[in-house]
Amino acid sequence: MFSTSTATISFFFFLLISLAAIHAGDNGPSYSKLRHGYYSTTCPDAEITVKNVIRKNMIIDPRSAASVMRFQFHDCFVNGCDASMLLDDTPNMLGEKESLSNGGSLRSYEVIDEAKANLEQICPGVVSCADIIIMAARDAVLFSGGPDWAVKLGRKDSLTASQKDSDDIMPTPRANATYLLNLFQKFNLSAKDLVALSGSHSIGKARCFSIVFRLYNQSGSGLPDPAMNPEYRKKLDKLCPMPDGNLSVTVDLDSTPELFDNQYFKDLVNGKGSLNSDQTLFTLPETRKYVERFSRGEKEFYEAFVKGMIRLGDLQSGRSGEIRRNCRVVNQLVLGRRTEGVSRKTSLT
Ligand code: HEM
Ligand SMILES: *[C@@H]1O[C@H](CO)[C@@H](O)[C@H](O)[C@H]1NC(C)=O
Ligand SMILES: *[C@@H]1O[C@H](CO)[C@@H](O)[C@H](O)[C@H]1NC(C)=O
Ligand SMILES: *[C@@H]1O[C@H](CO)[C@@H](O)[C@H](O)[C@H]1NC(C)=O
Ligand SMILES: *[C@@H]1O[C@H](CO)[C@@H](O)[C@H](O)[C@H]1NC(C)=O
Repeated sequence: MFSTSTATISFFFFLLISLAAIHAGDNGPSYSKLRHGYYSTTCPDAEITVKNVIRKNMIIDPRSAASVMRFQFHDCFVNGCDASMLLDDTPNMLGEKESLSNGGSLRSYEVIDEAKANLEQICPGVVSCADIIIMAARDAVLFSGGPDWAVKLGRKDSLTASQKDSDDIMPTPRANATYLLNLFQKFNLSAKDLVALSGSHSIGKARCFSIVFRLYNQSGSGLPDPAMNPEYRKKLDKLCPMPDGNLSVTVDLDSTPELFDNQYFKDLVNGKGSLNSDQTLFTLPETRKYVERFSRGEKEFYEAFVKGMIRLGDLQSGRSGEIRRNCRVVNQLVLGRRTEGVSRKTSLT
């Protein structure tokens, strides 16, 4: 009896190892099947744990809501929602943190670290950093007075990141509506999705760095953007003077920067969009239509926004992944097998 069960256990152990070996040799693309309640048995408190961290940090730093929800855009556009943007650079890998759009701009990484640390306490090795980003974005919008929605989970974390991919993909604040429509279409996101998702700029701030060209040299004309409301321009001129203003000073993205509402669209209608990429949505008929509709109907905005966030969250690269223990580092480096981790990474890039 005893020996039988030992044999049985040994057999299963052998099977497990074989499966692991087969799996490790399998470098084919993997797409995760995302679903609601993914952690309901493996980590039932996952969602409430993230919520508590988001709420706590908003009390300390109200802007952290905006900063954290922005992660979903910068993560999902660059090789899918895989937390690649959370990886720190290594001697062998230039990650996304210092890319053109992210360097000196993305902030509140430590909020995700805190959520991850708390999750590792209650269910180690279970909840991916990629899923934390998705939950955090939803919670940040909800706690800013915006809509609530159910998030699909089950993503894996990437084994690598690419500064070049981020540079190539992420749009600049100078972008015009034609460019943005084409870019979003590459991700199967419609004009309505583009306008609704840009409504994220209902919360948060931008640096003078992102708007001085609009204020002083739109399209190389040597003149300010004529689409800008003159009173609003005066206000921005004061905040972001040229040539020796401080480009790190911040301006609100809309006139209610801590409230997730449809004020952003009312501001665009009045020529008070902060970024060129915002105001430009009021120029083309395909996007202007939605700016007008959302400025009149907050409910329609919320519905379109939630749909857009779900589509954005569905983007996957098909690359292989893992559940990182620390969102900033791939597991092989955390576990100290430094050489192996580095050579593996090189072969993946
Ligand atoms: C449509 C193309 C987009 C462009 C060109 C763009 C560009 C920008 C820029 C330049 C900033 C300010 C950065 C700085 O000066 O440091 C910003 C802030 C922000 N963006 Fe976007 N963005 C776009 C779409 C989105 C989307 C789709 C989301 C979310 C789903 C988003 C969420 C945010 C948030 C919340 C902030 C404020 C962050 C903070 O206060 O820390 N953006 N964006
Ligand atoms: C929009 O931007 C693209 C790319 O920067 C540029 O080629 C195009 O001429 C611009 N279109 C308009 C109408 O300004
Ligand atoms: C967009 O949709 C097409 C057709 O359904 C699909 O082949 C393609 O992979 C999708 N692209 C992305 C980025 O999801
Ligand atoms: C405005 O932009 C154009 C084109 O980028 C450039 O040639 C010109 O020097 C700029 N003017 C100023 C005052 O910065
Ligand atoms: C520029 O502004 C930022 C943000 O307000 C501030 O932290 C920094 O100290 C300022 N730099 C200078 C040189 O004044």
